[in-house]
Amino acid sequence: MTVPLLMAMPGNEKAASKLAARLGWDLGHLEIRQFPDGETYLRLVTTPAGRVVALVCTLDRPNDKLLSLLFAAATARELEASKVGLVSPYLAYMRQDRRFKPGEAVSSRQVAHLLSSSFDWLVTVDPHLHRYGSLSEIYSIPTRVVHVAPLISQWIRMNVQNPLIIGPDSESEQWVAAVAQEADAPHAVLEKIRHGDRDVEIKLGDLDRWKGRTPVLVDDIISSGRTMLESLRLLTAQGWAAPVCLAVHGLFADRADVLLAQAGARVVTSNSVPHATNDIDLTPLLAEAVSQIASL
Ligand code: R5P
Repeated sequence: MTVPLLMAMPGNEKAASKLAARLGWDLGHLEIRQFPDGETYLRLVTTPAGRVVALVCTLDRPNDKLLSLLFAAATARELEASKVGLVSPYLAYMRQDRRFKPGEAVSSRQVAHLLSSSFDWLVTVDPHLHRYGSLSEIYSIPTRVVHVAPLISQWIRMNVQNPLIIGPDSESEQWVAAVAQEADAPHAVLEKIRHGDRDVEIKLGDLDRWKGRTPVLVDDIISSGRTMLESLRLLTAQGWAAPVCLAVHGLFADRADVLLAQAGARVVTSNSVPHATNDIDLTPLLAEAVSQIASL
């Protein structure tokens, strides 16, 4: 059987080459550039004919990436790839999962429809499933989800003495409890009310019985960073040590990484989105998921 092909969309070269090495797949090449008027030129340099092709494209800052990703997938199909899969460690547009105000786009469903029409399968990492029970509610293609909780627990065990694991809101309770249990540490959840994109109100509650422990704030996403920054501000005001801020996906809008570092936090993320804070490598778990779904 022909060896499958992984191709990196721009910015995903390191992740794709580590994944290809782990899977024993070939690494293909595509050429992509802007025409002078801003339109996209794309060429699959490695021919995909008769091969399973997986495009690697994490989808932070997705608006710049989605169109060329759809071009690459359509071209692979036109050039007779036997299957075209998507490895997207960070899956964008999952948070608008409801029409909160009349007339709003439910972009999670719309992006799911676009990607389901262009790909045969999808592998991603801890997608933000809040009001959806699973990806299959909006994606019509087979999907595999990589869960990072065990790697987060392992990182905490190896790097933090006497931790207290803290989740930002009641929705994170189950996930945070599982992380804490495997890290052999107690946990607490805060109360969060979001008033706007950059306006969150946090209530710490009574954490006194764990005073002296190192707070480890864990969340699935750091976006504007307001959730982490406000939690950190309240903790340090109550005399807690500067916390570790741990997230699966570090998006760091609004220079959130700089602000968190300036506030004294140690920030750690998985490499779902390339960043200097990456200290949790997803390659082995991604490889396992890709190899399972590609063999369906
Ligand atoms: C929300 O439900 C998520 O779990 C995160 O707490 C949220 O996306 C973080 O956003 P930000 O960094 O903008 O506060």
